[in-house]
Amino acid sequence: MTKYVISGGKPLHGEVEISGAKNAAVAILPAALLVDGVCRIENVPNISDVTLILGIMKDLGAHVRMINRTTVELDCSTVHKQNVPYELARQIRASYYLIGSLLGRFGRAEVPPPGGCDLGVRPIDQHLKGFSAMGAEIQVENGFIYAVAPKGRLQGAPVYLDVVSVGATMNIMLAAALADGLTILENAAKEPHIVDLANFLNSMGADIMGAGTDVIKIRGVKKLHGGSYSIIPDQIEAGTYMTAVAAAGGEVRINNIIPKHLDCITAKLVEMGVEIEEDGDSLVVRRHGKLTRTNVKTMPYPGFPTDMQPQIAAVLCLAEGTSILTEGIWDNRYRYVDEFRRMGAKIQVDGKVAVIEGVGHLTGAPVCACDLRAGAAMIVAGLAANGITEIDQIHYVERGYENIVEKLSKLGADIQEKNIPEEDWRTSAG
Ligand code: EPU
Repeated sequence: MTKYVISGGKPLHGEVEISGAKNAAVAILPAALLVDGVCRIENVPNISDVTLILGIMKDLGAHVRMINRTTVELDCSTVHKQNVPYELARQIRASYYLIGSLLGRFGRAEVPPPGGCDLGVRPIDQHLKGFSAMGAEIQVENGFIYAVAPKGRLQGAPVYLDVVSVGATMNIMLAAALADGLTILENAAKEPHIVDLANFLNSMGADIMGAGTDVIKIRGVKKLHGGSYSIIPDQIEAGTYMTAVAAAGGEVRINNIIPKHLDCITAKLVEMGVEIEEDGDSLVVRRHGKLTRTNVKTMPYPGFPTDMQPQIAAVLCLAEGTSILTEGIWDNRYRYVDEFRRMGAKIQVDGKVAVIEGVGHLTGAPVCACDLRAGAAMIVAGLAANGITEIDQIHYVERGYENIVEKLSKLGADIQEKNIPEEDWRTSAG
């Protein structure tokens, strides 16, 4: 069993480089299916979700060539099938972007419903509604979603999203990029990765306007051409390091970021007594004094991101006073709370609301990463806690954080990835 073992209570100091954004990469890589020519994509994060997407692209027949650790070249002219095997798709949420890309390019897609973190019910009805509005016939049968454009090509159409969905916004953009005519997508999500996908597609010849606002207009073009594109830095990875400094104390310069994307996180940490200075494409995050309570509610961008909810909860556990944390996106994103309680946290959850009574300090414990961001939160808590924290199920963390052990070690954290035999684990877990 591989675990992270953290000896906590050491302030962090130094500089950390943020990698490319996971949730942009997992849409931009499948978007290469729409392109006639070679796409060179830079600043690709080296994480397991990207490896899985590239594996699926290879299985479809794409030529995938790693130029270096963060640059990949994709040539999809050799793609010869439009069906994604269940075994590959079920491991990753973002496999749904293959429906929009395959349908947009080839007029058909057979993709199993997506996997990914268990955050409660995760429907994709809005994606399918968008494809249907564009003329696709959709059937869900035998564990697969079958989508076909009867005329071989989708038709642009007005689409109104009933819920603000990141995935549906990006998937409909993918499907509409090569459709006949104009698609007007209303009540669209506005996350930075939506703008990044639009910028990628536009740089390959698409005609997309309004990404980053709640109305996106996509005028279908006949074809997209190859080119180079660099993915934006990961807002959530940067936010996670910000909360790590807030929790453990110290002073860290976080490089290769877009400060604007972090305003929602910066605002909350500043309210809690963390000092944050912007310096070009870096932020200097400093925490020496006590943390004070605050309330946080997760919302679509530019609100506080749900993908930072468990990490900010770790910081709130250490603050003076009682904080109210409200989850505004997912039904079930508090599964990690029992793990925090093992570290001495005082948290009561009622539906989407968590009441967190600050305890000043946490104590190390054996805990489990029950999903990607919950795993990151366990690391944040472990860095601040007195004593040893052993984190199980770290494959979740590896889905979205590049070299997290190496990056934190460089900041002075005592964190190691250890292979612990089952028997020793039982003994140490008591
Ligand atoms: N929803 C529907 N119908 C749909 C789509 C969504 O009802 O067709 C609901 C969901 O149930 C949820 C809300 O709308 O309550 C928002 O879901 P959204 O579609 O925005 O989420 P997603 O696209 O499935 C992406 C990220 C998540 C992140 C959310 C919200 C990827 C691969 N995943 O998921 O990231 O939490 O947006 O920002 O981009 C993570 O990185 O840890 C992660 C879970």
